[in-house]
Amino acid sequence: MEGKVVFITGGSTGIGKSTAEKFSEKGAEVVIGDINKEKGQETAEEIGAEFKECDVADWESVKFVVDSIVEEYGRLDVVVNNAGIGSTSTIEEMDKEEWEKIIAVDLDGVMHGTKAAAPHLKETEGCVINTASIYGLVGDVGATAYNAAKGGVVNFTRSVANDLAEHNVRVNSICPGFIDTPLIQEAMDDEDFKNHVLGETPLGRVAEPEEVAEVMVFLASDKASYITGANIPVDGGWTSH
Ligand code: NAI
Repeated sequence: MEGKVVFITGGSTGIGKSTAEKFSEKGAEVVIGDINKEKGQETAEEIGAEFKECDVADWESVKFVVDSIVEEYGRLDVVVNNAGIGSTSTIEEMDKEEWEKIIAVDLDGVMHGTKAAAPHLKETEGCVINTASIYGLVGDVGATAYNAAKGGVVNFTRSVANDLAEHNVRVNSICPGFIDTPLIQEAMDDEDFKNHVLGETPLGRVAEPEEVAEVMVFLASDKASYITGANIPVDGGWTSH
């Protein structure tokens, strides 16, 4: 990763932080984009990255940050569209506002990062990695908007992989199962939910963020040179049954 410039959204905590750390260890210049300024600055300092405040739901914000990275570093090699928020409402519980918020961050955010980065990635024959979810591959109770957004990310990944293949820009997603991050902490405090998660995961445990970060770095490396348009489960077997 020496000499590569990597932009990771939602890099302040959880999977994004671990991924940022991993890229940084491998010698990449890492820029974290996040809506949480305090945490973002703290993480960036901790791992030797740069922080830029960014709201992925806002096209202008994402475009500004991506363009400023290219201005500053002269190139962009990898964009990891990872920022996301959760929701636990069924179709009847959910209101329109919640639907729009989840779609704006979890789906529009991925499109914004990809669209803003595409012209620059063509220059470097770089790659896009989206954080989708097992909930983009299967449905579950109480995840209406999240299932819809992540399902969108999965097929968006396939679509854009086709669009950008002629420029040798690869586009893939990772579909994590349950990963021990702030996103699931509250839900996992509920015994019933925890039992559901562990019961449906053949490996019988949640994962550490590093177990996802390793796959991110692999997908960005030359070792993955023939992988594009793939949505790769990192899920302890959740989607295998
Ligand atoms: P997290 O809550 O630790 O990290 C999410 C990050 O995104 C935070 O730093 C947050 O500040 C940032 N963020 C939220 N809204 C934003 C916005 N509008 N603009 C910019 N940044 C924003 O959660 P985690 O688990 O690390 O999530 C990362 C990705 O992984 C998300 O897309 C999530 O949906 C996905 N995922 C997580 C799973 C899990 O079990 N933890 C399972 C499957 C997918």
